Amino acid sequence: MNSLPTIHFYDLHPSFANIKEEVLSGLSAQPKAIPPKFFYDEYGSQLFDQITELEEYYPTRTEIAILKEHGDEMVDLLGNDALLIELGSGSSKKIRVLLDALKPAAYMPIDISKAHLLKSAQTLFNDYPHLDIHATCADYSDHFHLPYNPENVPKAAFFPGSSIGNFEPNQAQALLTRVAEFLGSNSTLLIGVDMKKCSQRLNSAYNDAKGVTAAFNLNLLTRINQELEANFEISHFKHHAFYNEKLGRIEMHLMSCIPHEVQIDGQIFSFEKNESIHTESSYKYAIDEFQTLAQTAGFEPIRVWTDKEKLFSVHCLQVR
Ligand code: AVI
Repeated sequence: MNSLPTIHFYDLHPSFANIKEEVLSGLSAQPKAIPPKFFYDEYGSQLFDQITELEEYYPTRTEIAILKEHGDEMVDLLGNDALLIELGSGSSKKIRVLLDALKPAAYMPIDISKAHLLKSAQTLFNDYPHLDIHATCADYSDHFHLPYNPENVPKAAFFPGSSIGNFEPNQAQALLTRVAEFLGSNSTLLIGVDMKKCSQRLNSAYNDAKGVTAAFNLNLLTRINQELEANFEISHFKHHAFYNEKLGRIEMHLMSCIPHEVQIDGQIFSFEKNESIHTESSYKYAIDEFQTLAQTAGFEPIRVWTDKEKLFSVHCLQVR
């Protein structure tokens, strides 16, 4: 007999040692860089949720509108009775648009932010008590195994928010290849991808008037101070974000306002005036560019939906 739906929790969160190693090696590189996945401590996840509500940040509301408009078709393509895996589930808000019509065998939200994941899983379960939830705290950008993988249950995946854009194209290809492998042949992936557009629109989305994106970026240094006992002076850095048209990406940096030194775990890092830490790239893709990338990772493009202004796209891909 099947057991009653409940919330299961799997902790595959990267260890403290991994975080320290990645931050130290990123700051030792030239130019300095820290991977964007470290934005998402508890406060960083809250700030990101605030970003998604900002007037200037069009991706979230545009993607939700696309999901609402074409949800029925998407649900048909995802199919009922699959294990539905969501990469970077955050607040698990977008999945609700699909869950009202979709009846998966179980839902597996995967996110790097443990507290946020648990809270969101509980809120979702309160509203969908028939849903068996396998909440998995993991860094999906790295190799990891699916902690729950019942035999003979088909799999489908949802990867919204254009988080794929936060990977370098070669890393995105490697990640999609791994997703295709764990999903298996003929499985479906529904993925949200932000599109190329005029730089003015992009620049304002990452430089909002209320300064929430700046706070999100700077919180990375606060987190490193707290978790790695570093001594970043936050006021010595400023948020710097711009669209790099040649590379088709937004770049976010933390720019040092003055020459100074920072100490982390006994190591000294020197900053010149205007030297920056590259904290995030957010690649934007034309439809055919993204479909070509997906094909190199073992997927066949099945369908794509966009909004009228062609700001954002949602692709349905099938593993070959
Ligand atoms: C999560 N990710 C897709 C967001 C983006 O737009 O690249 C992160 C973000 N950074 C600044 N604003 C939002």
